[in-house]
Amino acid sequence: MFLVSFVKLVLIISVIVFCIHYWLKRKSYLFDGDVIARIARKYVGKDPEYSFDRIKKDLRKAYPGHILQDVDTQWMFMNAGGWMGSMSILHASVTEYVLFFGTAIDTSGHSGRYWANVSDTILTGTFRQWSEGTLKTVHYNPGDTVVHVWGEVTAVQWSAGTWMVEYGKGFIPSTLGFALADTVFSTQDFVTMFYVIRVYTKCLLQEAGFYLSEWKSLIKDSL
Ligand SMILES: *[C@@H]1O[C@H](CO)[C@@H](O)[C@H](O)[C@H]1NC(C)=O
Repeated sequence: MFLVSFVKLVLIISVIVFCIHYWLKRKSYLFDGDVIARIARKYVGKDPEYSFDRIKKDLRKAYPGHILQDVDTQWMFMNAGGWMGSMSILHASVTEYVLFFGTAIDTSGHSGRYWANVSDTILTGTFRQWSEGTLKTVHYNPGDTVVHVWGEVTAVQWSAGTWMVEYGKGFIPSTLGFALADTVFSTQDFVTMFYVIRVYTKCLLQEAGFYLSEWKSLIKDSL
């Protein structure tokens, strides 16, 4: 009896995972990773405060209605995989996100194994990656775009003062578990967790609002 329901559960989960994976591969995406990297590369080596401000403006021009307003953005600590960084989320939906990420201290740990492709364009600092199965690290510098393909895992190390622009594409809710794990089970900083969930919710509402107003004008035009 138990075995039958267990097999059923595994089957149901497999079908759901297969469907989501198929959808992720076929669906069209709002952002273009190359466009984001190109915008970021314009500000390589500049003072990060200035760069982030300008990149936000450039992104709002390229993707109007999809980047959070300044009042809704905030730098939030992120503890995951043993490292500690800070992030400021600009856009997030169920299948994409854009954020600023970096650290003011030397930090290292586990990259996480995601159901999403993550690419980082480095503005300042250094990013070292040690890929699973290899015996050496690869070193990245400002101007480089580091791609982390879904399913892959690496050890990551950032030097103090490393700041970057990150674009993620995949099943984003699945990344939240890793993103918040150290907060729940190690730091117990539930204020940070509240901030992250609040900003993610704001992003989802902004996206819902955007498509709602699109449909409204579509219906109006067709009447
Ligand atoms: C992630 O990258 C892999 C390898 O480049 C690609 O096959 C896959 O379609 C990508 N997934 C998405 C959601 O873009």
